[in-house]
Amino acid sequence: MPDEILEMATSILTMDDPRHQKVRKLVSSVFTPKRVKLIEEQIANQARLIVEAIRDKGEVEFVHAVSARLPLWTISEMIGIPEDRRQEVVEAANAMVGWGDDDTIAESDSATVMLNGIVALHGACQDVIDARREKPENDLITALLRAEVDGQHLTDDEIRAFFVLLCVAGNDTTKQTTTHTLRALTDHPAQRDWLLADYDARIGPAIEEFVRWASPVMTFRRTALERFELGGQVIEPGDKVTMFYSSGNRDETVVDRPREFDITRTPGPHVAFGGGGVHYCLGSHLAKAQLRSIFRELYTQIPDIRAVGEPKYLVSTFINGIQEQRCEFTPR
Ligand code: HEM
Repeated sequence: MPDEILEMATSILTMDDPRHQKVRKLVSSVFTPKRVKLIEEQIANQARLIVEAIRDKGEVEFVHAVSARLPLWTISEMIGIPEDRRQEVVEAANAMVGWGDDDTIAESDSATVMLNGIVALHGACQDVIDARREKPENDLITALLRAEVDGQHLTDDEIRAFFVLLCVAGNDTTKQTTTHTLRALTDHPAQRDWLLADYDARIGPAIEEFVRWASPVMTFRRTALERFELGGQVIEPGDKVTMFYSSGNRDETVVDRPREFDITRTPGPHVAFGGGGVHYCLGSHLAKAQLRSIFRELYTQIPDIRAVGEPKYLVSTFINGIQEQRCEFTPR
């Protein structure tokens, strides 16, 4: 991918300081634990509606009916995506992570699929930008239009790139974690019962295991700025280095029994949200709030929900994705 095209999609994710820090600061206040707490009730309410919509069915395809819906709603509300554009936005965001998958590519090719996704997201964002210039609202796009970095407003190009990053980062990751977790808790019913016996006290540490287990972002590639030796391998400045988060999360020198899903473990360090550097996931608190709400609703309204059959995986070197997963439960 040419740099110009990647820049249209990555925003702060691929910026270096000092600009990275300044632009990240424009939105970071919206993602703090305190701010997430303020919207947690709305997220919980939305999670309730999502589960209410399926609870009399007895069987659904879980990814579309449940996992995808809460992240899409949450990020759309925060950014300010109108309801009639949300489906289009989520499909374009899916294309951005599906460029290695034959089903997603269909008759096209990876570069075209990715480019089409970027173009669709930029188009949707520009419409929101134009609308907010006319009539500001209480959302992120309005805030970004007003914001200044070094005395200058962000350009529309920059706002659109931010939009693409938030739509992709905010949708797929939490969606995949939800589906992987349903599968894991189906395979480990004793752990599910243990969780439900004291949900509020146990869900926090359990979520750390959900994301470690799912490791929805498998890899990122960075460019080394300094010489560094790691495991006997010398990395020189300018070397391109790929980090395998899913491997780090199964590092037997750090995690006890790393290949076992165990929500009763005292959570140790994991790198599912990154390694704790300046690019550490901005949405981690938001993701956790969504996971807390959706599993509370699922196990309250349809407690015997379970994944059935084999999932349809996404073919990707980037996202540990499940495209489809059937689930069953006693209808209410
Ligand atoms: C389980 C869910 C999630 C996982 C596993 C995840 C994972 C990650 C990872 C691995 C990074 C890169 C960290 C680094 O390079 O050090 C990242 C960055 C980022 N994530 Fe998340 N993410 C999740 C949910 C979200 C959500 C809900 C949002 C909401 C908008 C979000 C927004 C971002 C942004 C904006 C960045 C770039 C931060 C920067 O470059 O300064 N993520 N995420």
